[in-house]
Amino acid sequence: MFRQLFRTKSLDAILHEGEVPQHQLKRVLGAFDVVMLGIGAIIGAGIFATIGTAAAGDIARPGAGPSLILSFILTGCACGFAALCYAEFAAMVPISGSAYTYSYATLGELVAWIIGWDLIIEYAVGNVAVAISWGNYFKTLVAGFGIVVPDWLSTDYRTAAHIPGLFESAPHIFGIPIVFNVLAFGIVTLITIVLVIGIRESASMNTGMVLLKLLVLGFFVWVGWKYMKTENWHPFAPNGWAGVQAGAAIVFFAYIGFDAVSTVAEEVRNPKRDLPIGIIGSLIVCTLIYVVVAAVFTGIIPYPDLVKKLATEQAEPLTMALQYADIGKWSGLFVGIVAFGSVVAHTAVLLVFQLGQPRIFFSMARDGLLPQSFAKVHPKFRTPHVTTILTGVAVGVCSMFTSIDEMVDLTNIGTLFAFVLVCIGILILRKRDPDRPRGFKTPWVPVIPVLGILSCLYLMTGLPWVTWVRFGLWLAVGLTIYFLYGYRKSWLHKETV
Ligand code: ALA
Repeated sequence: MFRQLFRTKSLDAILHEGEVPQHQLKRVLGAFDVVMLGIGAIIGAGIFATIGTAAAGDIARPGAGPSLILSFILTGCACGFAALCYAEFAAMVPISGSAYTYSYATLGELVAWIIGWDLIIEYAVGNVAVAISWGNYFKTLVAGFGIVVPDWLSTDYRTAAHIPGLFESAPHIFGIPIVFNVLAFGIVTLITIVLVIGIRESASMNTGMVLLKLLVLGFFVWVGWKYMKTENWHPFAPNGWAGVQAGAAIVFFAYIGFDAVSTVAEEVRNPKRDLPIGIIGSLIVCTLIYVVVAAVFTGIIPYPDLVKKLATEQAEPLTMALQYADIGKWSGLFVGIVAFGSVVAHTAVLLVFQLGQPRIFFSMARDGLLPQSFAKVHPKFRTPHVTTILTGVAVGVCSMFTSIDEMVDLTNIGTLFAFVLVCIGILILRKRDPDRPRGFKTPWVPVIPVLGILSCLYLMTGLPWVTWVRFGLWLAVGLTIYFLYGYRKSWLHKETV
């Protein structure tokens, strides 16, 4: 049995599968689309929402304050190491399952299952957080037009508990206040419909959204620059290194997404060249943007004021900073522009992640670890419609009832864990299969993968203990499903018994 658990799939078999006609996706994406998909996945709730908690802290952890800038650099480096490993794998195994597929070839079926299960946290749970943040900015945006979405229709239960007066203002049924986030649910439903219709349409829509969000972040920096005060950067690290580390573990969320590019590998025309360009290129661009935005943000609001505001408000950090800056008569317009850009940015992230999750399910089903209906491709649209709809329903429903900070923490721990396994995979594959042609090679092996492993583990230790418990439970559920279903149904198992 032990040998069965660590059975690996040969890389040749994996590459061959992508060529089976009934499982084939359309190859329509070029290098530019891939970089755009990367940026589309990266810039979203992380920079627009989680920087608030990262800078101010919460009851579970210290805030980074202005040293948030350092947190971004630290996390950017950790992601850089992992990105180099991802790029080697993605160019060598351009198959839609991402880290799941890579580990099936290197670490064996059990680990592959764990990763596949773990990636649900990155993609689906991550998108729950993004959908919630989308709802918050959307609410700010429409408020500029005089449309007030009631708090009880745009907040989850737990967050509502911190906001004075919210429960009292909600309708009650049998004395219980009714509170849920209908905005988050709505956007997930819309995105799901777009994705079922087709990837080409989705990619062009993404490119437009990416350009717009870059413009809006540029706009935030341009406006905010004038209202920055360098004295707000003192003390630079109000909670010392503990704040920097906790901040880094949160803003890791802002970087997630460069790896999502690898899930469209089977839809890229020249994956060996375009995937590494997409992964590394998008990561570099985003790191630069984040550092500048963090500097401006922490330069506008003094740390003590930020802490006070975020403890009792469901606030959107960037628009809050502009409101705080007290720009004068243009304030409403500027807040509206940033809120609009943010809504667009979030939509792009939702799109890429809702696109990635079904493709991982698709790969797992193709291997027999999930039911065969998950591997179906729509006869007309050529998209994995069954898993796209399933993901849409699950993410939409969860986003109505959960809190963004909890979802961000869970996403981060799951994704960091996946990165660790990918780095380990590179070390193994270089030993086991050194001569296989690699479209891209991670430099300085084993140094880079080892640094990737250590830095991701370090960031994981910056997350609250309750997140570790939740992650452990999630893995336990996954393992149970594997032993009850996947272990027996896997094609590899059927071939070997
Ligand atoms: N990096 C993505 C975001 O910040 C997940 O929304």
